[in-house]
Amino acid sequence: MDAFFLLLSSVLIMDFAYGVTLDAFPKTLNISGDNITLEWRDISSPSDLDWVGIYSPPNSENDHFIGYIFLSSCPTWKKGSGSINLPLINLRSPYEFRIFHWDHTQITNSTPVDSDHNPLPSTANLLAKTQAVTFQNLNDPAQLHLAFTSHEDEMRVIFVTKDDLKGYVKYGLEEEGLKGVVEAESFTYKQSDMCDGPANTSLGWRDPGYIHDAVMHGLEPGKRYFYQVGSDQSGWSSIRSFVSRDKDSDETIAFLFGDMGTSVPYRTFLWTQEESKLTIKWLKRDIEELGDKPSFISHIGDISYARGYEWLWDAFFTQIEPLASKVPYHVCIGNHEYDWPLQPWKPEWASRLYGTDGGVANVGCLTA
Ligand SMILES: *[C@@H]1O[C@H](CO)[C@@H](O)[C@H](O)[C@H]1NC(C)=O
Ligand SMILES: *[C@@H]1O[C@H](CO)[C@@H](O)[C@H](O)[C@H]1NC(C)=O
Ligand SMILES: *[C@@H]1O[C@H](CO)[C@@H](O)[C@H](O)[C@H]1NC(C)=O
Repeated sequence: MDAFFLLLSSVLIMDFAYGVTLDAFPKTLNISGDNITLEWRDISSPSDLDWVGIYSPPNSENDHFIGYIFLSSCPTWKKGSGSINLPLINLRSPYEFRIFHWDHTQITNSTPVDSDHNPLPSTANLLAKTQAVTFQNLNDPAQLHLAFTSHEDEMRVIFVTKDDLKGYVKYGLEEEGLKGVVEAESFTYKQSDMCDGPANTSLGWRDPGYIHDAVMHGLEPGKRYFYQVGSDQSGWSSIRSFVSRDKDSDETIAFLFGDMGTSVPYRTFLWTQEESKLTIKWLKRDIEELGDKPSFISHIGDISYARGYEWLWDAFFTQIEPLASKVPYHVCIGNHEYDWPLQPWKPEWASRLYGTDGGVANVGCLTA
């Protein structure tokens, strides 16, 4: 055992001694979705399978990347140097990037594979890594999404922060001076609340931070309301708006669809859904065209396709935020969320939030 570790560490030192450098800049990002540039130099015998791994938190094991990109996606890779631009979302902890050498001779029948049976990249030859890259405010209120309650004059908003800070929603009919204030309840869940791997293992699990739930009330029907979430401690989101429910309207505008998934700018353990970008783009256009008419979205299952890799839920909620922070976004359970039919809602508080929201009622409205 000792000999093995000695050997391993001398291999790493040797690789670093080749002087490959990897740099990321900027080291601090302002807002979720900002780009970083990764720049590498001096790879002496580049391979088209050399790759950069994306890690968050930075102390993750080498094979617990959240995703990876082949350096050969950069046109200059054969020179052993190049750069890649990459948007990062605020995952409530810093990131680190590591490059590894990998070539075709290392792929054998026993190489681990992803869900599509493509070989997963080898972490045997670490060449270089960056310092940590972080966000200015890891508590920046994120993943805003709206939902109806069973009262016509209410609107629920949910958002996420890293820490268990008190959260609020401020709202009103005028963008200047949001007069209504409601304190949010906050919740979280643990690795042991997950029913199976990979979600309950250190590979698929990520700390979800705190989920804040606040209900705006006393809303006049069919009016555009402005709102903002957060607190002086966590910082505040930008001001968003929605059109309240109008019980007297003679039309209901609803966007109903099943399936979608999420798109991430890297490869990972699962296939992700590039097409979801277009779905969001067209829905956004349609909602903008509706102007001040109230509408809602019903996503009737097969929601994120995260399938146990939690950062894909973060990617999904970030991706839908431009819609879900403007119009109520309702979901129900599809087969990709229903792999454990006998399992109760976990954690228990989720049944209160989501328990009446799924299944038959929404499917009924699709087929009605
Ligand atoms: C962050 O914001 C500051 C000013 O608010 C700006 O000067 C800086 O360029 C921004 N950084 C990034 C990475 O966007
Ligand atoms: C990130 O870079 C891409 C092009 O590489 C650009 O289209 C996009 O607008 C940038 N995103 C931000 C938030 O600056
Ligand atoms: C994950 O869930 C499975 C199925 O319930 C269980 O057998 C396993 O022990 C769990 N693993 C961890 C690390 O909790």
